Amino acid sequence: MDKKFVEAINVQLNFEIESAHVYLAMQNYFAAHSLKGFEHWFQIQFREELEHAQKFMDYLNSRGERVDIRGFASPKNEFASVLEILEVSLNHEKEVTKRINNLMAMAIELKDYASVSFLNWYLNEQVEEEANFSELIEKVKMGGPNGLLMMDHQLAKR
Ligand SMILES: [Fe+2]
Repeated sequence: MDKKFVEAINVQLNFEIESAHVYLAMQNYFAAHSLKGFEHWFQIQFREELEHAQKFMDYLNSRGERVDIRGFASPKNEFASVLEILEVSLNHEKEVTKRINNLMAMAIELKDYASVSFLNWYLNEQVEEEANFSELIEKVKMGGPNGLLMMDHQLAKR
């Protein structure tokens, strides 16, 4: 594979691990505020991000390239409200989408069609990620304080 492209995938897989930690911090914020459903929902989000990282790692390994694990800044642990958490999350996912789009553009330019096919999964996943957070934001905005508790009950089912 093209060396610059391998480096770009390494950056992305590390960003997926960083994303996992962003949601792990949020999961624990909800635990501290006794919102069990949100806690559960974000725990699943955390695990999904680790799966995204794992998929990139498996891909590089299967193509005979090296995975390079790196460190990153501490995530945000304190928030003013549930709405703030959801808005930070949506913005984070928009950033991920931008980065996946850039990887796709690179794969196309390199005519690396195996990578184009591989990255398609992530493009679809990002549509879902952004839709999930947009929906939660709308529900919180419409619901009020009682709505939040009802939502907490529903999110426990993810
Ligand atoms: Fe992800």
